[in-house]
Amino acid sequence: MKKRKIGAAGLEVSAVGYGCMGLSHGYGATPDKKEAIRLMSQVYESGCNFFDTAEGYSAGGNEELVGEGIASFRREIILATKFVIRPDEEVSTIPQLMRVVEAHLDASLKRLNTDYVDLYYQHRISKQIPVEAIAWCMGELIKKGKIRGWGQSQSTVEQIRLAHAVTPMTAVQSEYSMMERMFEKEVIPACSELGIGFIPFSPLASGFLSGKYTSGQEYKGDDVRRVITRFEKENMEANQPLLDLLRLFAQEKNVTSAQISLAWMLHKYDFLVPIPGSRKMERIVENLGAADVVLTKEEFDKIEAELSKIEIYGNRTDEDIAKLYR
Ligand SMILES: NC(=O)c1ccc[n+]([C@@H]2O[C@H](COP(=O)([O-])OP(=O)(O)OC[C@H]3O[C@@H](n4cnc5c(N)ncnc54)[C@H](OP(=O)(O)O)[C@@H]3O)[C@@H](O)[C@H]2O)c1
Repeated sequence: MKKRKIGAAGLEVSAVGYGCMGLSHGYGATPDKKEAIRLMSQVYESGCNFFDTAEGYSAGGNEELVGEGIASFRREIILATKFVIRPDEEVSTIPQLMRVVEAHLDASLKRLNTDYVDLYYQHRISKQIPVEAIAWCMGELIKKGKIRGWGQSQSTVEQIRLAHAVTPMTAVQSEYSMMERMFEKEVIPACSELGIGFIPFSPLASGFLSGKYTSGQEYKGDDVRRVITRFEKENMEANQPLLDLLRLFAQEKNVTSAQISLAWMLHKYDFLVPIPGSRKMERIVENLGAADVVLTKEEFDKIEAELSKIEIYGNRTDEDIAKLYR
């Protein structure tokens, strides 16, 4: 698998990573524990060394599962997790904030069964806490050897610049795909300028871009596709031209639509590393295989030109996802 170096910490990661969330959270039915652990081993054996989780996925359960799944190759991989400061936590002074952040990290380390994480993200930016204060805490955690690098998720360009000036960031992880390109305007160029890696989450738009889902499909439990508007029947139908386009390009190159979606972003930015998630090995292999799909300049320009003519309907927002838990 091709490698990419990201950010201040210079972490060397496979060009396509693996999002572990769906193994226990966010997409309904989950594989049993044995199967999930087997999948993680296969992901590693397939050449992927970049695993993504968060304390918030199934209330720490995902980190525990990942901790078990990666135990035999922990030191060979780049492990990323995330924290969120809850509104009820007392963080009005820097020493208090430091204690709270470190307690979050210590709990994650315990669940992950490790003594460091390679990449520690602030999962969502808190309006009450200056990003510079979080960045300072991250610097302390780096000095202590508990994390190797840090980053933000779904942050603005201002938040990135302010935080990066205090403790240089390794990566920004935010939603990016052919269906969600809002960060192309400011955030991704700023990452390029500052030498920060960009890690797209939901790079397949929750699987939609694979073209394997139809508008009649039913989703159950905590599956976000029950509530995100991208998966509403009318929007799925309205987005069909994008799938038709992808199928065409995929057929021309004898690859799949999911692979074209990922190859497009890998070609576009050399500091970008997508982390698609799947609970099925053949799809994981398909997604990791996108690292080997090389687009020529002509092919890439043609995709860009066609994409610019296509209107996208629906999206994925935290507000819509929160409806699942009310
Ligand atoms: N920072 C954040 O706020 C944030 C938010 C969301 C996600 N994330 C991270 O990003 C990772 C990826 O995001 P995501 O899981 O939301 O979106 P995604 O990777 O775009 O899509 C995952 C969904 O697509 C399906 N899928 C994946 N590959 C497929 C393929 N080749 N063919 C058909 N279907 C396919 C999966 O179903 P099956 O499992 O049934 O294959 C799953 O339902 C997560 O695992 C998580 O680590 C971070």
